[in-house]
Amino acid sequence: MKAFRDETVERLSRASGLSPEAVDRLLVVAEADRGDFALPCFVPAKERKAPPPKVAAEIAAKAEAGGRVAQITAAGPYVNVRLDRARLAQETVEAARAAGPAWGHGSEGAGKTVVVDYSSPNVAKPLAFHHLRSTMIGNSLVRLYRARGWRTVGVNHLGDWGTGFGKLLLAVELWGHGPITAQDPRGLNAMYVRVNAEIAKDPTLEDRARAWFKRLEDGDEVARDLWRRCVDLSMREFQDVYDRLGVTFDHVTGESFYEDRMPGVVAELKGKGLLEESEGALVVRVDRPDDEKEVPPCLIVKSDGATLYATRDLAAAEYRRVTFHFDRALYVVDVGQGLHFEQLKRVLLRAGHPWADAMRHVPFGVLLIGGTRAKTRTGQVVLLADVLDEAVERVEGVIREKNPELADAAEVAKAVGVGAVVFSDLKNRRINDIQLDLESVLSFEGKTGPYVMYSHARACSILRKHGAALPAFPQGGGALLSDAGEQALVRAVARFPERVARAVETDEPSEVATHLLDLCEAFHAYHARGSRDPALRVLTEDATVRAARLHLVDAVRVTLAAGLSLLGMAAPEQM
Ligand code: ARG
Repeated sequence: MKAFRDETVERLSRASGLSPEAVDRLLVVAEADRGDFALPCFVPAKERKAPPPKVAAEIAAKAEAGGRVAQITAAGPYVNVRLDRARLAQETVEAARAAGPAWGHGSEGAGKTVVVDYSSPNVAKPLAFHHLRSTMIGNSLVRLYRARGWRTVGVNHLGDWGTGFGKLLLAVELWGHGPITAQDPRGLNAMYVRVNAEIAKDPTLEDRARAWFKRLEDGDEVARDLWRRCVDLSMREFQDVYDRLGVTFDHVTGESFYEDRMPGVVAELKGKGLLEESEGALVVRVDRPDDEKEVPPCLIVKSDGATLYATRDLAAAEYRRVTFHFDRALYVVDVGQGLHFEQLKRVLLRAGHPWADAMRHVPFGVLLIGGTRAKTRTGQVVLLADVLDEAVERVEGVIREKNPELADAAEVAKAVGVGAVVFSDLKNRRINDIQLDLESVLSFEGKTGPYVMYSHARACSILRKHGAALPAFPQGGGALLSDAGEQALVRAVARFPERVARAVETDEPSEVATHLLDLCEAFHAYHARGSRDPALRVLTEDATVRAARLHLVDAVRVTLAAGLSLLGMAAPEQM
């Protein structure tokens, strides 16, 4: 598609006298029945002080079609461009098939590094279902950035430090190590929930918890040993879920990793004269005169000397900068932490670190289950592992019914069940709150993961039915892919790489997910047509037509597989 766009830009630039960059900025993708691109003439008309339709007519009259561009016409204030559809079909299908799993890849990120902080759950709390959002959005972003040429560094900033651990150790003091010895992460969480409830009733316990955290900070052996065992236990539980999701990290550097860097952070801020005392605590002021909403000071050291989440994040940001030399640093964290990341960036900028501007909070909305927030502290959590179990189990039932012959039904069910949950998240703009309803998420119809995966399997099945290896693309075969149904597929395949690039620009995996849904819809319509009219079947009698159609189906298959992989989903060939 890029060659087609570039050529369009060049021809329109010559005809209009606008620079190629200006045309490229203005050019939009047209609705299929209007053509392929449209140049709105409002901006050039303003400059020329002429009515837009007149400018459009002039440009269209001067423009020359030819090469990849079939037709340039004016329609009101627009110049519409129609591409050589046969050539578009042929070049698109060839490019997608040649690229295979690398379809959609690009090189804008070459030489650049992005650090992605994602998942980052808290120890002693279960990996609740809402962590899915950070884990899956981050995992997909890593894949998307990598596809566009970036070097990626995936970091799991485990919540393994802080005053909460004082509470946990107090719980162990009060009720024993049962859950740790029994390797029971849920038991550990129950204890954490219980100690929070007890502390709420009896504030003297708060002091005892604080004393435990102090021991931990001071390196007390008993405290350290207990803490280590809690972290290991939780990590094992998290790892289990990561394995099921196919999620990996380059670095698991939790908050505790930065503990010995904390004095350095405090000293730096102090040395630069940024620390101020406020009610016994040390803070950095970060408000600006033009703030619409008040931005409170960033708390660096509490009155009891303990450091905070923000202090550790400051250390982490500096560490990532010197270790990875990032050009961009993403924090895939829920929208509720927006203020935290704003404060963080401002403290770093005040401390003379302009690279902090390359830090981006990538926020996402909450996950609602039955209309309420999935919580952890009160114990009413929906565990990710449980949701995955149920999804897989239900999908297996459906598959065994639909396709009783399928040999590895259990494996496929795992991929589809997990993929269904993942897709239900990634198809939404991340900032939206999402509602989880397993029933609709698992459906094989509608805008679901199983629907996309099933479309991929269907493309595979058509190719399997053909049996033999694909014949060469027939001479002039592009012209055989000329009807509206085929053109819709060609367009969706052709535009896939742009959508991947856009997903990276906006940190929005939903760009890819929604594009796959559009492609599936076109594919579904194409397939349905073939069941009504045998002449329109892919595996039709005429060998030349059949070859052209098979190449198109294969390009669809390639696009779906590449897209699913960018979302972190499997693409089974049968289901
Ligand atoms: N552990 C935190 C939480 O669950 C998220 C950490 C995000 N990453 C960061 N660098 N602050 O809320």
